Amino acid sequence: MDELKHRVRQGYSRGWVVSKYSTVGLWPSEREICLQFWSAGQEILDLGCGAGRTTLPLIQEGYRVVGIDLAKPMVDQARRFTAGAVVPCPLGVGDATDLPFQANSFDGILFSYNGIELIPKEKGKVRALEEVYRILRPGGHFIFTTHAFEALNKYIYSRLQRLALQFVNRALRRSDLDAEFGEIITDLDRNVEVYYMQINSPRKYRRLLGSVGFDLAYYSSRSRIDAGRPPSRWADFDSDFKFYVARKAMP
Ligand SMILES: C[S@@+](CC[C@H](N)C(=O)[O-])C[C@H]1O[C@@H](n2cnc3c(N)ncnc32)[C@H](O)[C@@H]1O
Repeated sequence: MDELKHRVRQGYSRGWVVSKYSTVGLWPSEREICLQFWSAGQEILDLGCGAGRTTLPLIQEGYRVVGIDLAKPMVDQARRFTAGAVVPCPLGVGDATDLPFQANSFDGILFSYNGIELIPKEKGKVRALEEVYRILRPGGHFIFTTHAFEALNKYIYSRLQRLALQFVNRALRRSDLDAEFGEIITDLDRNVEVYYMQINSPRKYRRLLGSVGFDLAYYSSRSRIDAGRPPSRWADFDSDFKFYVARKAMP
């Protein structure tokens, strides 16, 4: 798993990838969901904050924000973006599977732009969800987005092709690195952004959230939110990003 995490860190530490994420601004759907579930003045962790795209706007919305990311060059860029912010915003290098915070530290946590899919293996994702649960205050909300394996978009054929190849590899015992459903592992000599990711079904995330103790307070897709349509499980098949809001119950 460490080898896969190293790949992720490597991918997001390169200059052109940092530049690609060096824009500032919440998506309208992100803003709508954050404002719906969090109140101004609350303490928010921007997990996998990247170059600070969401960090600065969250501060401007009146939240007290802390940000961490696995890749130091991303954190350095986020520091530049937030340097002039009206309130200080602590930023540091950190790993979602081993969060450097005490239990019950935050009212809300954001893991935007499908960051959870970059955590290797189901075991790693469960570990991250457990960590998020631990540091969230009771009643707090965790907001995150993902792709979906069953999304009806132009990538569905390549996802199915890769799945078929995985079955063959597994049958021939050719690889164990990408042995899990939905994993995508790219050769390190290719100059691409993503060297590792795992695209699951939203059904899997709903199950994992429940197993960790979360209640699913909200689930929809970016396009449904943008169009003002009501949330629906049919969003699994929408072509774009899924939004989950997971609530840590009160004791
Ligand atoms: C797709 S980028 C999105 C960045 C930012 N959240 C945004 O929306 O612009 C995903 C980010 O997650 C970070 N990341 C990946 N795995 C992580 C982990 N285990 N812990 C913390 N951050 C992680 C990457 O370094 C990268 O900056």
